[in-house]
Amino acid sequence: MDWGLQNRLSRIIKPQDNRALMLAVDHGYFLGPTEKLENPAKVIAPLLKYCDSLMVTRGVQRSSVSATTDTPMVLRVSGGSSIIGEDLSQEDITVSIEDAIRLNASALAMSIFVGSKYEYQTVVNLGKLVSRAQKYGIPVLAVTAVGKELGKDARYLSLACRVAAEQGANIVKTYYCENFEKVVQSCPVPIIVAGGKKIPERDALQLTYNSIKAGAVGVDIGRNVWQSEHPVAMIRAVRSIVHGNSNVEQAFSLYKKLASEDSKHKSKQT
Ligand code: R5P
Repeated sequence: MDWGLQNRLSRIIKPQDNRALMLAVDHGYFLGPTEKLENPAKVIAPLLKYCDSLMVTRGVQRSSVSATTDTPMVLRVSGGSSIIGEDLSQEDITVSIEDAIRLNASALAMSIFVGSKYEYQTVVNLGKLVSRAQKYGIPVLAVTAVGKELGKDARYLSLACRVAAEQGANIVKTYYCENFEKVVQSCPVPIIVAGGKKIPERDALQLTYNSIKAGAVGVDIGRNVWQSEHPVAMIRAVRSIVHGNSNVEQAFSLYKKLASEDSKHKSKQT
């Protein structure tokens, strides 16, 4: 494997423990001003030092992330449809490789919609993106999108992850499901699990724990961090599982302790 690609990958999946904690803030690319992510700069600033990498669009990276950060950027380069549009699966590549390099992206991310009307377009685009990115030693993270009409079980997710890996994706991001070990075992590249909709903190920590136990290298978590009442407490608790080998009880206790300190701090300020 070439040096540049390996170096960029090692910024995302930490070689010390082969684990990754990615903070997802790219939701606005199809959801617009997502609840509690209305002001990305404010949300990102206190969380940046606790994640290994940030999954972000170029608009938010330029406008809302300090260029002095040493946190690696996983740049979303696909888009084209919004939540109120005709078909969410109709995505194309929206960022040139030159702009991604200018933004010093450590990896490029795009979604594929296996089983949807636009399956062909998104899978071919993934192959093309890998070819372009490979030329410059930039890894590609493929996101296996799920939707109302798409499955979320091990059979479907194994297929979608494998399709992504076969096109050359260096990392695959997918969703946790029952029998997740099967999804991991049949995917020849590392898997990162997306957090999904906001659920109670303890449940999100359980999801993180289960994902890692089943063989994922880490999580790419968004709403379950910044939609929490205590985002810093939550990302630190998630981190204690990903990099500290905490179990769910230990991580949840850490969350409660940090959340209570945060509440006291906030009440002093008011
Ligand atoms: C999907 O690709 C989205 O853009 C997010 O990056 C992903 O769903 C992870 O965020 P969350 O933990 O909020 O699901």
